[in-house]
Amino acid sequence: MSVRLAQISDLHLPLWPMRWRKQDYHIKRLAGWLNMRWLFRRDSFALAETVAEALVRDIRQRQPHVVVLCGDVACLGFDEEFALAARLLRPLLETFPGVAVPGNHDYYLDDPACAGSFERHFAPWQCGLRIEQGVYPFALVLENLVLLAVNSAKPMKWPWDVRGEIGTQQLKHLQALLTRSEIRSRPCFLVTHYPLLRSDGRAETYFRRLTDAEALAEVLARHHVLAWLHGHRHHPYVHAPDIHRGFALLCCGSATLRRVWSYFELEWHEHRLQLKRRCYWLATREFVEVSQSELVLTLGP
Ligand SMILES: [Fe+2]
Ligand SMILES: [Fe+2]
Repeated sequence: MSVRLAQISDLHLPLWPMRWRKQDYHIKRLAGWLNMRWLFRRDSFALAETVAEALVRDIRQRQPHVVVLCGDVACLGFDEEFALAARLLRPLLETFPGVAVPGNHDYYLDDPACAGSFERHFAPWQCGLRIEQGVYPFALVLENLVLLAVNSAKPMKWPWDVRGEIGTQQLKHLQALLTRSEIRSRPCFLVTHYPLLRSDGRAETYFRRLTDAEALAEVLARHHVLAWLHGHRHHPYVHAPDIHRGFALLCCGSATLRRVWSYFELEWHEHRLQLKRRCYWLATREFVEVSQSELVLTLGP
């Protein structure tokens, strides 16, 4: 039996007007707001809400078995942004099982007022097996596949610091999850926001990297993980497994960034992953299939 997934990411839904409280005034939020309101992001995500509605219509028509949300639904990490995103994605949240992990824009600042907001609004996609009381990682066990949701986002203080981190506790819990019998007996796909590599195959620069990416990759290589699904990078790309790295890397790109408007439909069946890229077509205001490829994913030689 095959399983079909819709992988979506980086919706970055802008919210106007935005309600600011006294404690919201922070250099990082002000820089982000400036970018959204007047600079690059203003035009880049101008159609985000319209495209998100078309995305929801398309996924409902395609009827995947599960939806994977790789983070960055918000811009500045406000609770109101998550409420807007959850309202737009409500038809998917109510219809399909899924996993959702936060991005750096969802964990924008270490702000107690927004703590747990992402998880609250995307609660239907936060269900699965966990170790102890931790929120992440968790595992959604399907009939012939496991989706491992790991949080790679960590609030950073300065606007130029876009690093992510998994942390030792999550790595420990992930290893424990991977040894459980119901997970050990199935192939696994990892879901994070941050990538291991950029589209050119190189590691991210210092202030953009996932600080413990190599430690995470080592855990995946020791177990039965076949693919790492992520977002963060706004243009889609795929790296097939190679001799050094036994798992594939799949970045679906931003669903709402102008002229990218992309998501992946993945079909997993007996070691083969069929990958279709679907994009928003401005003329018809619908998502259409623009490319198709296939990867063979196996454990070891
Ligand atoms: Fe993003
Ligand atoms: Fe991001």
